[in-house]
Amino acid sequence: MLKQNKSERAVFATKFAAIATTVGSAVGLGNIWRFPYEAGIHGGGAFLICYMVFVFLIGVPVLYSEFFVGRSARANIFGAYKKLAPGGQWQLAGYIGILASLLILSFYSVVAGWTVEYCISSALGQLDFSDTETGHGQFLNLTTGWRPVIWTVVFLFCNFFILIRGVTKGIEKASNILMPILFLLLVAFCINSFTLPGFKDGVSFLFSPDFSAITPGVLLGAMGQAFFSLSLGLGCMMTYASYFNKKTKLGRTAVTTAVLDSLVAVLAGVIIFPAVFSFGISPEAGPTLVFEVLPYIFSQLPGGAIWSTLFFLLLFLASLTSTVSMSEIGITFFCEEKKMSRSKSTILVSLIGLVGGLLCALSFGVMSDVTIFGMTFFNLFDYLSSNICLPVGGMICSIFVGWMIDKKFVKDQFNRSMNDASLGVRILLLFFRWICPAAIFLIFLNSIGII
Ligand code: PHE
Repeated sequence: MLKQNKSERAVFATKFAAIATTVGSAVGLGNIWRFPYEAGIHGGGAFLICYMVFVFLIGVPVLYSEFFVGRSARANIFGAYKKLAPGGQWQLAGYIGILASLLILSFYSVVAGWTVEYCISSALGQLDFSDTETGHGQFLNLTTGWRPVIWTVVFLFCNFFILIRGVTKGIEKASNILMPILFLLLVAFCINSFTLPGFKDGVSFLFSPDFSAITPGVLLGAMGQAFFSLSLGLGCMMTYASYFNKKTKLGRTAVTTAVLDSLVAVLAGVIIFPAVFSFGISPEAGPTLVFEVLPYIFSQLPGGAIWSTLFFLLLFLASLTSTVSMSEIGITFFCEEKKMSRSKSTILVSLIGLVGGLLCALSFGVMSDVTIFGMTFFNLFDYLSSNICLPVGGMICSIFVGWMIDKKFVKDQFNRSMNDASLGVRILLLFFRWICPAAIFLIFLNSIGII
């Protein structure tokens, strides 16, 4: 789908390719695993409202700013800031992005490891969730202790294999076909939710917000989820935009990505919460919530093992495209900035991911008592990357485009998508300069109790 043009860098040949790639990066475990668990611990409806507001009020403009920087500079996050603002201080965003990508790679691999394990167990017909007690026992067996450690390593090995063999593009191509199938499966499971006894309770948990439940923690969590789900703040979207062609409409691509991404998250919520209430599981179960609930849904369906195998297989592939893209951030850094060979950089990033992944996997086993600031490694890595690094990275990008880039240039990029853009440009600049940075900053202050 990448086409080499005269200016030596490959570009996406079609509008569809640009959208498919950004949506492909955005949609993943973040929507299907992380959104329901975060919504579950943060009060359901209250969280959903905040999340939606953050996606469209902060996420879309920040996404636009990342697209803008990426397409203008046609380089990775380090190269982009270097090219557009020589001096170096803006590259801080690059370091934050690398840190975030390695932290995310670590805990993401554990969850992706669960998907591999569930896929294989379902295929072998070993997943029995026919009654709540056996189900719960099996779920604990699959997600805690030593087993997840092994599956984390297996998953990281798959990730390494793809990166080292340079077959990333093949995986992405396959996922362009497979992801729509995942979407259809989600729609089918969503329809199935209507038949569950807990449908009404689940839907009202998700869609009727209790505004008094909006606490600083909910706001920070929802902002982190918006950034995580849109793959924002770490340079991933910037790199993808470096392949956009001149005609790609940045605003439209950003809005389409945000709409489809949040649609998948809401679908996941409509699948999970009715089942949570039907099978008597606590919505506040945390990171393991979805893995406890889904098998119950499959066990109620005719041919459940087949559905389950297919679903976890597709989820595994969706995770793989995400981890491949986040590994690339570190790999290009070591290759281009530290002048390491590509294979050495790949080995280094994979080893860091392995150490981090083991710490996170063991958080559900022998290291469940080891906590820092009251969090296990898994929770800490998740919190630090999603709630801190990504919003800070996004804030830097927004300030950069708002204040450092010549207004004319912003207008020029914007004019490609609209005829008379002066009002549009002014609104956009208002977001880049003030609304996004201030909102992110205020939420940080709010979360540490200053306001
Ligand atoms: N957005 C991806 C998801 O929802 C996760 C991701 C984060 C991917 C950061 C790349 C970079 O699963």
